[in-house]
Amino acid sequence: MEIGNIKIVVCKDYEAVSKKSAEIFAAQLKSNPKSVVCFATGSSPVGMYKEMIAKYKAGEVDFSEITALNLDEYYPIKKSNEQSYDYFMRDNLFNHINLDFSKQFILNGESADYEKECRDYDNLIHSYGEIDFQILGIGINGHIGFNEPCESLSAETHMVSLAQSTIDANARFFSSADEVPKHALTMGIGPIIKSKKALLIACGENKAETLYNAFMKNITTNMPGSFLQLHRDVTAVIDEAAFSCIKKNMK
Ligand code: GLP
Repeated sequence: MEIGNIKIVVCKDYEAVSKKSAEIFAAQLKSNPKSVVCFATGSSPVGMYKEMIAKYKAGEVDFSEITALNLDEYYPIKKSNEQSYDYFMRDNLFNHINLDFSKQFILNGESADYEKECRDYDNLIHSYGEIDFQILGIGINGHIGFNEPCESLSAETHMVSLAQSTIDANARFFSSADEVPKHALTMGIGPIIKSKKALLIACGENKAETLYNAFMKNITTNMPGSFLQLHRDVTAVIDEAAFSCIKKNMK
């Protein structure tokens, strides 16, 4: 089904969402083995990453020619910290596939000069032109990457202060909310919206109202996910619980 520009695929549960998302990702790699892929962290894509590892082990997908970017990273954080997104990506996907690490890039949460880090990352993205395949989750408050709800959004890579609701939501990965970094570096909204194809994964009742607000209400910087309404080719793969609020409000 489609809501405006957004294609929505509703699956029964997280497992089905992960399988469907992996099918879409695998099809992308088949049609363009040299894809520039921008990866996301969080719980939402983990199941898809597991499926992709299985596909790789079965000889069904090849990552050797892709370029791997990532949306965001806490700041400051050490790469060796198990909660860093650098560690997350290696642990959940990169260490288990045939990725060429010379073409793998993630914002450096250890950088002393975050402004330079952000500019360098933008230059890197621009050197590839557009992202071929953008993987996304969405925060309960509507953030994509770490582009938090705000009066204005930056198109470019920048440092953000994390919203208290994000710190609380991500505290589950740390030993306490106090351990969650208060800042992050994130790709801006520009390359996300300009990507050639985007795949948004969302599951669970707690994302239902977020998706309704992002997809069915007006575009606003207070709901960064709503900018996906402007995307040329976005597919949201969501479970029935996450779909419930959209379903209730469909005519
Ligand atoms: C995190 C990440 C986002 C992610 C979102 C949702 O904080 N920075 O990139 O999409 O929050 O996370 P989850 O999939 O765990 O709900």
